[in-house]
Amino acid sequence: MPSGEPKSFGPLAPYYEQLMQSVPYDMWVDYYRLLLLTYDQDPNHVLDVACGTGKVARELSRVGYQVTGFDLSAAMIEAAKRKRNPGPHPLTFRVADATNFEFGEQYDGAYSFFDSLNYIPSLEGFRAALAQVRKHLKPGAAFIFDLNTAYAFEEKLFDMSDERKHLRLRYRWKGDYDPESRIIQVRMQFWPRDGEPFQEVHVQRAHRSEEVVEGLYDAGFEHIHCLASYTLDPPTRTSDRVHYVAW
Ligand SMILES: C[S@@+](CC[C@H](N)C(=O)[O-])C[C@H]1O[C@@H](n2cnc3c(N)ncnc32)[C@H](O)[C@@H]1O
Repeated sequence: MPSGEPKSFGPLAPYYEQLMQSVPYDMWVDYYRLLLLTYDQDPNHVLDVACGTGKVARELSRVGYQVTGFDLSAAMIEAAKRKRNPGPHPLTFRVADATNFEFGEQYDGAYSFFDSLNYIPSLEGFRAALAQVRKHLKPGAAFIFDLNTAYAFEEKLFDMSDERKHLRLRYRWKGDYDPESRIIQVRMQFWPRDGEPFQEVHVQRAHRSEEVVEGLYDAGFEHIHCLASYTLDPPTRTSDRVHYVAW
């Protein structure tokens, strides 16, 4: 990205949950728990990789999990820390980079939701993140994450807008996908009702499924499953999002 470009998840942080209000996070959490059950996992303390404002972490805390979440964006973590923990266990948030974090602790499980790992724009960085997560897991503990596919970018998943006057946050997004590099750059414009307009540029890479599987094996995961998101079925050519379960 050229220097001077607006960064991602900076000015957006205070508005992120507003933007995501139609996202059925409870369904995401139910699906995570279904996958845990399906693959015989029963974690207590889980690591939320790229936790954003901690929406999933709070949902899991509410149903009794202990969660440690981290994110590259200090603004997202600041927003996460401002929310009340609805659960009985500690909910911890830290600023860290998935490609090189070092917490000196091992968890019973890890997850990364909402295409967060697509935001690592290089294969080396993505592979490093898988290796770091593996190091932070107890033997046999699963890492569950989702990724946008190239199909999603080809089908212009990111081209969207909602500019209705009454909205608290109006937005217009336009993606530019390069199939050669498998990188999409999404120019996002926002108009908050209660603040100044701002822009962000979001960059994602469509990691190939072979790269993901190889990265997971090289990181030390031995069992790998890939599913069409929200199902227990294998992905198809037209899956725009897939979930991986690896332990
Ligand atoms: C689409 S948001 C998803 C946030 C959260 N997982 C959720 O479900 O709401 C993607 C998040 O990935 C974070 N992120 C991007 N690159 C990262 C990295 N290298 N390490 C940690 N977090 C990263 C961003 O700051 C952002 O909060």
